[in-house]
Amino acid sequence: MQKFIINGGKKLSGEIRIQGAKNSALPIMAASVLCGEEITLHNCPRISDVYAAMRILTYLGCKAGFEDKNAAVLKAETVSETNISDELMREMRSSVFFLGAVLGRTGKCRITLPGGCDLGPRPIDMHLAALRRMGVTIKEEYGVLDCTAENGLKGANITLSFPSVGTTENIMLAAVLAEGTTVIQNAAREPEIADLAGLLNSCGAKISGAGCGRMVIKGVKKLHGCEYRIMPDRIVCATYLSCAAASGGEIVASCCRPSDMESVISIFEQMGCIIHSSEDKIYFSAGYPLKAVSPIRTMVYPGFPTDAQAVVMAALCKARGTSVFVENIFENRFKHVGELCRMGADILAEGKTAIVRGVDRIYGAKVCASDLRGGAGLVTAALSAEGTSEISNIRYIDRGYEEMENVLSSVGADMIRV
Ligand code: EPU
Repeated sequence: MQKFIINGGKKLSGEIRIQGAKNSALPIMAASVLCGEEITLHNCPRISDVYAAMRILTYLGCKAGFEDKNAAVLKAETVSETNISDELMREMRSSVFFLGAVLGRTGKCRITLPGGCDLGPRPIDMHLAALRRMGVTIKEEYGVLDCTAENGLKGANITLSFPSVGTTENIMLAAVLAEGTTVIQNAAREPEIADLAGLLNSCGAKISGAGCGRMVIKGVKKLHGCEYRIMPDRIVCATYLSCAAASGGEIVASCCRPSDMESVISIFEQMGCIIHSSEDKIYFSAGYPLKAVSPIRTMVYPGFPTDAQAVVMAALCKARGTSVFVENIFENRFKHVGELCRMGADILAEGKTAIVRGVDRIYGAKVCASDLRGGAGLVTAALSAEGTSEISNIRYIDRGYEEMENVLSSVGADMIRV
């Protein structure tokens, strides 16, 4: 089993080029199933979840692979399989996007429930209810969902009770080739939604209102191939800024989109960090000492993202004063807290709330990642700790971060993978 060994206490300094967004790449890769022609995706991150999506595409009879460093080429000339095996479904949560895409292309699909990081219950009831409204019959037996649209998918008016990111994306995938118009009310507004719409529209889809809460998708007969550049990963960017804040460093994050990150940037400013942004760069200088911040409540976009909760919490472990986090999106997203406490942090987590009392020092320790962003939080803390940390279970971190040890070493971290 691989581990990261980190000798803390080194200030980060230099430039980090931000990778393409995982949460854009994955639905976009599923979207390639809808299109018979070749799609070239630039800025596609080489992370394990992307390789898992490629395995699903290959299993379905499509071509998928990297042509160049970050250029993925996908071609779904034929879709020869519509049952996705349990083994593939369990590899990640995003396997569920193949449901909307395969249904959209073939009118049928059999899946089991998706896997992914354990952040508490992650039902797909909203995805299924929306697909039913679009004419899909779903038989659920022995953990298998057998979905068919015998008379083809039909456009529908769908109002979401909560602006779920994955549900919005699955509806988009099912709707682009459906007969008629689909309107999604209370759609998710995350920037990754607009990125998926951008790819689909580049292939000839007719989607308007992506990112606005009310989206209109006019079904078209066919999609064509395209070249598309995946947006920068705002959570990876927030992670490296947290690492710089925790280590007391000064970095430039390049190829990013600061306009997607305002809620996170304002928290770093409260911590006393100095930030200047241009269109695609963030010049970041850590405050010293870091200051505690007003309560952080995770929210849907443009609120503070749940995915940045763990890394920002790790950066606040040594801040002066007490910070409070309220996790509103997932039920069980404080698993990193116990591990941060092993490193000397003073955090009390109860229910949705975690109280972080800043301490003067944290120490290197043997800790274990139990999900992707929590794992990144442990790396953040280890960089600011005295002594050596050993972080195990880093396969979680590899799901979303491209060669994290090389990225952080390139700006001065003492970090290796063993
Ligand atoms: N929910 C339901 N029923 C559903 C769908 C969602 O109850 O049918 C609940 C979830 O259980 C959760 C909440 O609604 O409590 C939000 O879920 P949402 O559907 O918005 O999230 P998701 O699509 O499962 C995506 C990201 C997550 C990110 C969330 C919130 C991808 C592949 N995943 O998940 O990213 O935390 O949106 O922004 O886009 C990560 O990158 O580490 C990650 C977990």
